[in-house]
Parts: sequence; structure tokens; C-alpha cells
Amino acid sequence: YGSADFLVVSNRLPVDRIPTATDDGGWRRSPGGLVTALAPVMAVRDGAWVGWHGAPDETLDPFHHENMDLIPVPLSHDEVELYYEGFSNSTLWPLYHDVIAPPEFHRTWWDAYQRVNRRFAAAAAGAAAKNATVWVQDYQLQLVPRYLRQLRPDLRIGFFNHIPFPPPEIFAQLPWRQAIINGLLGADLIGFQRPNDTANFLRSARRFLGASVKAQQVHVKENDGSVSHIARAEPFPISIDVRQIQELAERPDIIARARQIRADLGNPKTILLGVDRLDYTKGITHRLKAYGELLTDGVITVQDAALIQVASPSRERVETYRLLREEVEGMVGRINGQFDTISNTAIRYLHHNYPVEEMVALYLAADVMLVTALRDGMNLVAKEYVAARSNNTGALVLSEFTGAADQLKQALLVNPHDIDGLKAIITRAIELSPAESSRRMRSMRRQILTHDVERWSQDFLTALQNEAVRDDR
Ligand code: G6P
Repeated sequence: YGSADFLVVSNRLPVDRIPTATDDGGWRRSPGGLVTALAPVMAVRDGAWVGWHGAPDETLDPFHHENMDLIPVPLSHDEVELYYEGFSNSTLWPLYHDVIAPPEFHRTWWDAYQRVNRRFAAAAAGAAAKNATVWVQDYQLQLVPRYLRQLRPDLRIGFFNHIPFPPPEIFAQLPWRQAIINGLLGADLIGFQRPNDTANFLRSARRFLGASVKAQQVHVKENDGSVSHIARAEPFPISIDVRQIQELAERPDIIARARQIRADLGNPKTILLGVDRLDYTKGITHRLKAYGELLTDGVITVQDAALIQVASPSRERVETYRLLREEVEGMVGRINGQFDTISNTAIRYLHHNYPVEEMVALYLAADVMLVTALRDGMNLVAKEYVAARSNNTGALVLSEFTGAADQLKQALLVNPHDIDGLKAIITRAIELSPAESSRRMRSMRRQILTHDVERWSQDFLTALQNEAVRDDR
């Protein structure tokens, strides 16, 4: 047995090796919502985190970083290509996001996915103390719960899927659909973002495994037909570290920075903001199209409304991401070429990663936040924007295809495929009266303030505890 009583297992560790760094340092925060949500959870819990450190072909010993015990899992160049860029991000990612891009199915990718999932399971099994709790995260590691249970039946195993789970009609395409469901069913508790994701998973378990599902529970059988354990599926909408964002939003230097940003943009009347990983699920091109048409129609001018688009680099070696980058940068170039003046720019496009302090300054500077994802498990940027607006000003335009739309009901909800609808809602957001804006923001803030990420993790872990206790009887 290992020594950790609580373990998180995810594809990425919370920090990434900086490619050019030498041995004596060189870490930076990993991209994406998973790390944003889980890092604060781990900061207040005594546990270890198992994951990849972002550099291919490098083996590292476990180490301590910012009060966390990190256990690196190595990936070879080939595995990065086949398991990470291939099966995780060119098969599962598009399949689970409404097939916005066509998923590719390759047997060599699947082989690597199984092999790497076994390695993560072995690493967790080696680090976990007797009867420990292990919490496996996200679509890259769906086979880990089953492998881990085989290695260590004493463990309490939870799984949380950060991205959507597709309806069985789409999941059906996956040649390895049974193995994936079986992998997930190795957990005692399987968490999803939305009730719909949970229902989709249970329908797939019934349809493709013939599992009997009662009250969100599946009786998982051994090969001889005996029940090995009960797996339960349930929604647990994830959130953010609200206090951290609020504290930053009140810091005088960050408030001053927000003012500076507005002045640097030439003091437009309205600042629109988009913040995304540069990913085709985020609806960035739809947003740019709507904004460009509003300028063309003369509804707004660049002095009225400037757009800041932060598009952080993501999965850059994957073809669909490369094509998206070209498309986005082409659109930005065309719109700016046509509408920029010497003193004002239409779109300030930033292909960068920024520290959270700069992000909060941007949230404070933005009058309108645009979240136009075509499909998104949750979308934490929407929640961060709301958390930062402590004076109840500002407007949130939010796609109905995000998990966040379940909770932020007072956002200006939109179907981003409907470009005319999107233009109308952006115009409405720009013109929103202070009274209406404040009423909506107050209501959204009430929701966020009472549902932060600490509560999310407590809810999940308490449910996992109860589930496993009931199982033991
Ligand atoms: C999403 C996923 C995470 C992933 C993140 C960044 O938030 O749910 O699992 O880590 O994107 O993507 P990357 O491929 O860079 O890890």
C-alpha cells in the first residue's frame, strides 16, 4: 500500500513543465477548466495528485509543489500523439461535443488509450493507502476506475466527467462503447455536469450493456453474474473558487489595471470580452461573425463597442485546432482591416495565456461578457465573470449549450448558431439598462456565491462516502 488517503487522478497535473526550462524550475499552471476548479480544492485538502506533467519522454520523481504532492505519470512522444492528441482529443472530444468536428476512430489510438489508462491506474494503486479515496477525472481516463478496482478492490473510487456525455444515438458510433461504459462502471460514484449528461450515460449503459438501471444506480456484475458493487451516476455541476476571484476583484492594483485597459483601447463606450481556449467547441467564429455584421450594418462603431478576444493556445498539433486558428485569425484580420481606425481597434485578439490577476482585470473592464460555446460541459469563464462583478454591473451573454446555463438563468441566453439572434442579444446587452443589468447580476451572484467549488467537491465526496458505505453492507 501507498501512503495517500486521498488521491486525485487527472490527465494533467495542475502545473506543466515549461518546454524551454532547465531542471531547476520551469513550471506554469496547466490550461483549462479542470485545473481551475480542482487546484483550490486540493490546496485545502491533504492529498496527492497523479497526472502527466506536460513534457513528452520525461520521467520525473514525485515532488512537492505549492503545498501539493504531485505524482508525475510519463508519456512518450508516441503516446502523446496516439492517446492524448489522438484518442482523447480527436476521437472522444469531438464525439462528446455534439460531433461539431468529425470524430476519427483508429485502433492504434484505442490501444494507446488502454495502455496509458492502465499506467495511470497502476500509479494511483501504488500511491493509495489502504481503503483510500481516489477521485478520477475526465474523459482521458474513463478506463481507470475499472482497472483500479481490479488492482485495489479496497479503494473507494469516484469519477467526474468535466465535459458533456453524449446521447446514446451519438455515443453508438464509438467502436469501443462497451469498454468505455464498463470502465466508468468501475467507480462507486460517477459524476456529471448536468442531469442530461447523467441520463445519457445511464441510457447508454442500458442500451449497450443491457445493464439494469434503477434510481440512477447500476448493479455491476462480475463475469459469473454475481454483483460486484453498485455504481451510482449523478449530476454535480462544477464551480469556481469564488472567494479568490472576489478578493482579486477588490484589489486596488487590479481595479487600476482594468481602468488602464479601457484607456489603452481608446476608451470605447462598451467593451465586449471573450475568453476561451482556442477550441472549435467555443463558438468563437460565430461570435466574430455576429460582431463583424453589427459593424457592417452600422448598428455599432468601433468607438461604441470594441471586442477583446483572449484565445489561449490549445492542442496546437491537432489538425482541427490548427485549421480553427487560421480561420479565426483570418476573420480577425478582415474585420480589423475594414473597421479599425488609427486610434481605435475593433478586435483586440490575444493568442496568449494570462495569469488570473490579468483575467480579473479584464472581467472588471468588460461591460459585456460573451460566452457563445456550441457545446460546453460547464464553462467556468461565465462563472468567473459573475464572481468578479461585485458592484452588480455588466451583462453576460451565455450560450444555452453550456452547463452554466442551467444555473445562470438570469444571463442573456442565446443559441449561438442563430447569428441574427446572437446579434440581437449582443445589441440588447450593450443597451441593457442599469436597473435590469443589476437585477440580473444580483440573481446570478446569489447562485454563484452559494455554490462554489469547495461545495461541489464536498457534495461529491460526501455522496461517494455514502455510496461506498451502503455498498459495504
Ligand atoms: C478541458 C478538459 C480538461 C483539459 C482542459 C485543457 O477543460 O475538460 O480535461 O485538461 O480542457 O485541455 P488540455 O488538452 O490542454 O489538457
